[in-house]
Amino acid sequence: MFSGVSLDQAPPFEAPLIFFITAPLFAIIGAILLIIGAGGFGVLHSFTIGFLTLVMIGALQQMLPVVVGVRFKYPKALSYTLIVPLVIGVIAIVAALGFGHADSVSVAGILLLLSLWFFSLITIAKLLKAPRKSDSVIAMILSLLSLLFATILGVHLLISLILGNELNFLAAHGAFAAFGWVGLLIIGVSYQVIPMFYVTEELSPLFKQTLAPAIFGSIVFYTVTEDKLFFWIINVLFLSFALISLLRMKERQRKLKEPSVAFWQSALILLIAAAIYSFIDQDERYAVAFGYGFAATVVYGMLYKIIPFLVWFHLSSRGFLGIPTMKEMVNEDFIWLHLYIHLSAIFFLFTVPKLGAYITIVENLLFLWTMRDPIKLYFDYRDRPSPLDHLQGR
Ligand code: HEM
Repeated sequence: MFSGVSLDQAPPFEAPLIFFITAPLFAIIGAILLIIGAGGFGVLHSFTIGFLTLVMIGALQQMLPVVVGVRFKYPKALSYTLIVPLVIGVIAIVAALGFGHADSVSVAGILLLLSLWFFSLITIAKLLKAPRKSDSVIAMILSLLSLLFATILGVHLLISLILGNELNFLAAHGAFAAFGWVGLLIIGVSYQVIPMFYVTEELSPLFKQTLAPAIFGSIVFYTVTEDKLFFWIINVLFLSFALISLLRMKERQRKLKEPSVAFWQSALILLIAAAIYSFIDQDERYAVAFGYGFAATVVYGMLYKIIPFLVWFHLSSRGFLGIPTMKEMVNEDFIWLHLYIHLSAIFFLFTVPKLGAYITIVENLLFLWTMRDPIKLYFDYRDRPSPLDHLQGR
């Protein structure tokens, strides 16, 4: 995995890690809000910005040098600068939309606009410098453009709430945020990681070239026309992505029974369910199927693969060869257990939301518990002198 990436190209582990371990806390907060009956949009944004967006920002930082061959100059400083306004911004939007706390509305709007726009613009600038504009790069650029539009529409909605105006562009905001930012980034990353992790055949070049621009174009048409037809076209495009990717995974060469494969397969099956459900209704259940069913399942599956790898990569690249392998770092039974708990959380979020919320708390605590070993291993070794030092006469 990530073959050909050198230590000085990859960001320090702390840069993406701060996002990877903060995000599950907001999933837990979102679940608690659901249990205590806070406003639905407060719950929604604790998950969508607090959990999904934070992990995606961390993952993008990690993926850029690997997938695109470009990197941020001061990745740790960037992470620590971004995480503060993002965390305060999410707490403020949860207070505003979950509890109607008026004073938090402007705090949320300003901090989220500044931090999400700053990150989107500097990352788009990096991606435009990419030596090769692969289909993943195009999908990532369209995903970040969607985040720019979703955020400015989000601020417009916050201002409309303050002024008591009609909430225009609500559906457009949701579409750019969920289908554009979240959906297109997962598609862009999947073009690289599914063939790389599981040795599958790549999706056809024509399909990869057209899918992300078609989804983005449909979101723009949906925004301008507000015609439901484009909402359904978007869902059919995601349905086709899920079906073809599932097929590719079924034909994969590396037929290892490993949990991250099952996370991807579950996520793709839930994306198919969400797309079909979109022809029945577009209510909270649809948001659960697309947001927690598809997107969050991919996120957990990827984190279980990425975090142990990064610990191994950073420590072994410094010459610590006696460390456990990635498989030894994490008890795989816990990852399988998480998958089953996660699927039951989705089922109950769909049927008995409060029970689903309790299960969501359990699964995020299990995730943090399972990841404590590799993370502890990294910090145990981080400040030790590298065995390579004496070779370099240090
Ligand atoms: C980045 C991830 C985000 C996602 C996935 C997301 C998703 C959504 C969705 C699905 C809706 C409901 C749309 C509908 O009913 O059709 C919504 C509403 C809303 N969003 Fe977001 N959003 C995100 C970020 C933001 C940001 C950054 C802001 C503010 C800066 C924001 C402010 C709002 C507001 C004010 C509403 C309307 C709430 C109400 O009607 O009371 N959202 N969002």
